[in-house]
Amino acid sequence: MPKHKHQIVPNPKPWGSIRSSLHSLIAVLVATLLVATVYLTQEYGVQFLEDCTASTTVKTSEDSCNLFSGKWVFDNQSYPLYKGLQCTYMSDQLACEKFGRKDLSFQNWRWQPHQCDLPRSLPVPCSLLLFLFELMHFQSLFRLRSVMSLFFISLTESLLLFDKIKVRPKILASNLRQTLRFNATALLERLRNKRLVYVGDSLNRNQWVSMVCLIESAVPPELKSMYTNGSLTTFKATEYNATIEFYWAPLLVESNSDHPMNHRLPERIVRVQAIEKHARHWTDADFLVFNSYLWWRRSMMSVLWGSFESSDGIYREVGMPRVYEMALKTWSDWLEVHVNPNKTKLFFVSMSPTHQSAEEWGVTTGENCYGETEPIKEEGYKGNASDPKMMRVVENVLGELKTRGLDVQILNITQLSEYRKEGHPSIYRKQWDALTEKQLAKPSSFADCIHWCLPGVPDVWNELLYAYIFQMTG
Ligand SMILES: *[C@@H]1O[C@H](CO)[C@@H](O)[C@H](O)[C@H]1NC(C)=O
Ligand SMILES: *[C@@H]1O[C@H](CO)[C@@H](O)[C@H](O)[C@H]1NC(C)=O
Ligand SMILES: *[C@@H]1O[C@H](CO)[C@@H](O)[C@H](O)[C@H]1NC(C)=O
Ligand SMILES: *[C@@H]1O[C@H](CO)[C@@H](O)[C@H](O)[C@H]1NC(C)=O
Ligand SMILES: *[C@@H]1O[C@H](CO)[C@@H](O)[C@H](O)[C@H]1NC(C)=O
Ligand SMILES: *[C@@H]1O[C@H](CO)[C@@H](O)[C@H](O)[C@H]1NC(C)=O
Ligand SMILES: *[C@@H]1O[C@H](CO)[C@@H](O)[C@H](O)[C@H]1NC(C)=O
Repeated sequence: MPKHKHQIVPNPKPWGSIRSSLHSLIAVLVATLLVATVYLTQEYGVQFLEDCTASTTVKTSEDSCNLFSGKWVFDNQSYPLYKGLQCTYMSDQLACEKFGRKDLSFQNWRWQPHQCDLPRSLPVPCSLLLFLFELMHFQSLFRLRSVMSLFFISLTESLLLFDKIKVRPKILASNLRQTLRFNATALLERLRNKRLVYVGDSLNRNQWVSMVCLIESAVPPELKSMYTNGSLTTFKATEYNATIEFYWAPLLVESNSDHPMNHRLPERIVRVQAIEKHARHWTDADFLVFNSYLWWRRSMMSVLWGSFESSDGIYREVGMPRVYEMALKTWSDWLEVHVNPNKTKLFFVSMSPTHQSAEEWGVTTGENCYGETEPIKEEGYKGNASDPKMMRVVENVLGELKTRGLDVQILNITQLSEYRKEGHPSIYRKQWDALTEKQLAKPSSFADCIHWCLPGVPDVWNELLYAYIFQMTG
């Protein structure tokens, strides 16, 4: 007889105790089943079960999970993630509620990726419910295996969740990622002694304000500060020695639009080969989040070879998207030489769509995002303000940078934001200039359909960033 084939001799005593504990286990299960049946027959239960099914698939399809393909789900239980009126550092440009917006449902949408889940909290261990659900529909012995494995997963989850067993964060991250929700304290811990720097234009500042609002409620007033020095504005959480910064560089490379306040000049001039004046302020950051798109939206751009100060500079008009490509090349060359990939994690936020022409989504000509209260439902909707050619340029530059050993993660927020025609401030923001009678007669004529109300869409961009930061530093 081969050695490894041991005869299993049942020992009557342990078996008896197992049997009695099995009895109590079954009793507990039946009771839970009853509760669950009642629970699941209610509308909320069905929705919850759907969420569960969606969230468990992340375990099997983590690699193929595209966070940027999905749909918006109305969820006023979990959203907004903070109260706009209570955010100490809210910008008057984005504070829609403060400036009189009455329809606030734009704050209540959750982004649900098709094949995976954003980290968020669930009230009950999902797989326990799924296990019970499977049990209710238990038909053949074939399913026993999957039922049993679900049972063990749910047991583990329950232990983790209820008994607060200490597990290494890595295990938590890979198995229970979907049960974690944006947690400001947890993020601050990841940012301890670190710099998270957003570099770019006003859309990037929009996202930075969102991140500051998401974080600052977890920090008492005496332990936080905000200060500006030139183009750099820094939020600091003193206790953690962590900073969340924004650096104004709307074209990334140098331009005549670099002044943080007075940058609206009639003619735009860009020095596509010069970036060091900006880059020296952020090269050693731990997380860098770039964007640059809207300021390039014109068919030609004036390019300067030489400096703004000297008189012998050479000026040429260069067409789009070629000039964009030249600038991104300068930017990526700088990163390749100056960034330590072991220290710094890089992100690039894709084009933020605008909703300046209601005709695009089939409403009256001459209108825009003003008065919109609902997202666009049509799957894959694209406005014509987001130029795919520009996206290709970014993809190519980043692809090339990757072959040179530097990974930049794209935050592909374009498609998900396309749906959110109702998410812009429109007229609900501070008006710096007095409005004319003509403007007041037609509110859509002064509506901002470019930036985003907070709380709102950029919070979700930051949730995606959060997911990556946790994945990369787990
Ligand atoms: C959430 O939305 C539902 C449906 O619109 C509504 O009945 C409910 O009162 C809302 N709950 C909160 C807390 O706003
Ligand atoms: C948030 O994270 C902190 C630190 O990791 C943890 O102690 C706390 O329980 C978390 N809060 C929630 C609601 O999960
Ligand atoms: C605080 O954080 C900065 C990076 O943002 C780091 O250079 C510095 O060493 C940190 N200070 C302490 C006391 O750890
Ligand atoms: C502002 O930044 C400049 C360099 O960029 C630096 O020399 C100066 O000390 C900074 N000022 C303050 C108050 O931090
Ligand atoms: C990054 O880390 C790897 C492995 O630890 C090391 O070989 C490499 O020299 C490091 N690169 C830099 C720029 O520090
Ligand atoms: C986008 O579409 C609208 C309406 O269909 C049109 O008026 C506008 O000129 C278009 N813009 C561009 C850049 O193609
Ligand atoms: C971003 O998403 C859009 C549409 O979902 C897609 O066409 C594009 O290729 C994506 N870009 C990248 C870099 O993944």
